[in-house]
Amino acid sequence: MAFSFHHNYALAIIILILAMIQFKFTNGSHHHHHHHHKHLKSLHFSLYQHETINKTGYIIVNGVQGGASVTQTTTPFGTLFVFHDPLTLTANRTSKVVGTSEGTSITSSFDGLQSISIAKITLNLKNHKGSISILGDVNNIKPSDLPVVGGTQDFMFVNGYVTSSPVDLKGLTVVYKVEFHLYWPPYATTQAS
Ligand SMILES: *[C@@H]1O[C@H](CO)[C@@H](O)[C@H](O)[C@H]1NC(C)=O
Ligand SMILES: *[C@@H]1O[C@H](CO)[C@@H](O)[C@H](O)[C@H]1NC(C)=O
Repeated sequence: MAFSFHHNYALAIIILILAMIQFKFTNGSHHHHHHHHKHLKSLHFSLYQHETINKTGYIIVNGVQGGASVTQTTTPFGTLFVFHDPLTLTANRTSKVVGTSEGTSITSSFDGLQSISIAKITLNLKNHKGSISILGDVNNIKPSDLPVVGGTQDFMFVNGYVTSSPVDLKGLTVVYKVEFHLYWPPYATTQAS
């Protein structure tokens, strides 16, 4: 299991590096929403995740007492948290909802700032529908890169990573910017979209 995970992860990095090299050679600028070169396809975009305490995100199991406390940015070591958050086009909560992020995180640093996060992100974009699954370490006050471990429907076999960065940590609803960097391996794009 551990070996296969690392193996897949190494493969994902190699694919990512190859994708980046190819991208550099064929394209000078970075903000292309859709890139198609031979069999390698990638997609780059950002959405905003809104998490409201006791509405879309809850502490399910309390962590170990005596260390970090529950604050806007920390939770005790071992806290099990579950969330089902909307993803919108802009940082404004009233902007269009185009996805959801549902998952769980477990506080894994003693200072209460970091957690292991597992999430399924369902996307309903104009030309791409389906979900991606992410797994990694999130820091509550710094940008975090989370590897994409796979996907469904239009995102079947997708690799890459998402970067989650805090935008607004004040108040009952916290907002994160989620940048998606998705790459389709050649065997996933036989019927190109
Ligand atoms: C959320 O609910 C828990 C359990 O009822 C409560 O202890 C906590 O104060 C609530 N948090 C907020 C920010 O309302
Ligand atoms: C969010 O969007 C609504 C509706 O368009 C607007 O009334 C409101 O001022 C916006 N809020 C911010 C903080 O920009």
